[in-house]
Amino acid sequence: MGEVDQAFIQSIEHRTNLDTIEIEGIPLIDLSLSHTTDINVLVSKIGTACKNWGFFQVINHGVPLELLEKIKVAAKAFFDQTMEEKRNVKRDEVNPMGYYESEHTKNVRDWKEVFDFLIKDPSFLPASPELEDDEMRTLSNQWPENPPQFREVCQEYAREVEKLGYKLLELISLSLGLPSNRFNGYFEDQLSRVRLNHYPPCPCPELALGVGRHKDAGALTIVAQDDVGGLQVKRKSDGVWAPVKPTSNALVINVGDIIQVWSNEAYESVEHRVVVNSERERFSIPVFFFPSHYVMVKPLEELVNEGSPPKYKPYNFGKFFVARNRSDYKKLEVQNIQISDFKII
Ligand code: OGA
Ligand code: NI
Repeated sequence: MGEVDQAFIQSIEHRTNLDTIEIEGIPLIDLSLSHTTDINVLVSKIGTACKNWGFFQVINHGVPLELLEKIKVAAKAFFDQTMEEKRNVKRDEVNPMGYYESEHTKNVRDWKEVFDFLIKDPSFLPASPELEDDEMRTLSNQWPENPPQFREVCQEYAREVEKLGYKLLELISLSLGLPSNRFNGYFEDQLSRVRLNHYPPCPCPELALGVGRHKDAGALTIVAQDDVGGLQVKRKSDGVWAPVKPTSNALVINVGDIIQVWSNEAYESVEHRVVVNSERERFSIPVFFFPSHYVMVKPLEELVNEGSPPKYKPYNFGKFFVARNRSDYKKLEVQNIQISDFKII
């Protein structure tokens, strides 16, 4: 990426001071159910983590560790190719799947390059954010010829992480006092996607960020990261940016905006960002669980009553998603749409 272009520079209040601080981190939860732990203990740990942090890590998650290793190797091999090669699968406004190197978060460019693919290929999305426009668009994956086996490894990873995604949604549902399958129907035509992130070393890590502060718009995100570190979470208790310590064999889980709305704010989607460094490149693989485009997202009826009325107006997920993603392609002059726009005050 060369010299640091103005487009990457964060405003002063959003820069990092690069101090490495040792502070209490997000919970680590073992998902294996041996005879010593019963499901209720696990459900309660998940509920507490969602409530206090919106973030946690899991081990014994069922995603084969060899596969995690394989996809990290495949991601590196893909990004190591020439720009010309990567641009053969470049995404654009018509097809947002594939390679991309100039994504913006809150109108500042991120110090990263990405490769995105859908779990369900093809997927369908509204063509525009306008509510009266019912034209649809088909999204489909673009696969590079190289590295060999890239596609196969990516698809196998998606299948395994999808299973974990359902398992976590079930545990979260139980933790809210709902039946385990309460959320499943929303994902029938899911728009979920996998992203390979590459954060190259940055000559000015104190000015730019790998990903600027943001909340994830989906229901749930599952992130695999390497041992470099850089992901930070805004700690709910005091607003301090807490580093998520790379933990071997663990996956990082976070609650997205949709669970915040479904749970009527029992669980909140928490801000996070990625700090870069001047020496080591970093790889991470988030999987974003998004419902079907036609789902109307609103607080679940079982969780609202007279004493605790809904805190959000219903919104159409597909329309919201299209409106929100407009800023990925160009720097907009205005703040992008957020779930707070649907908040009932
Ligand atoms: C994201 C994200 C975290 C990471 O892409 O939304 O938060 O560690 N990524 O790369
Ligand atoms: Ni994120």
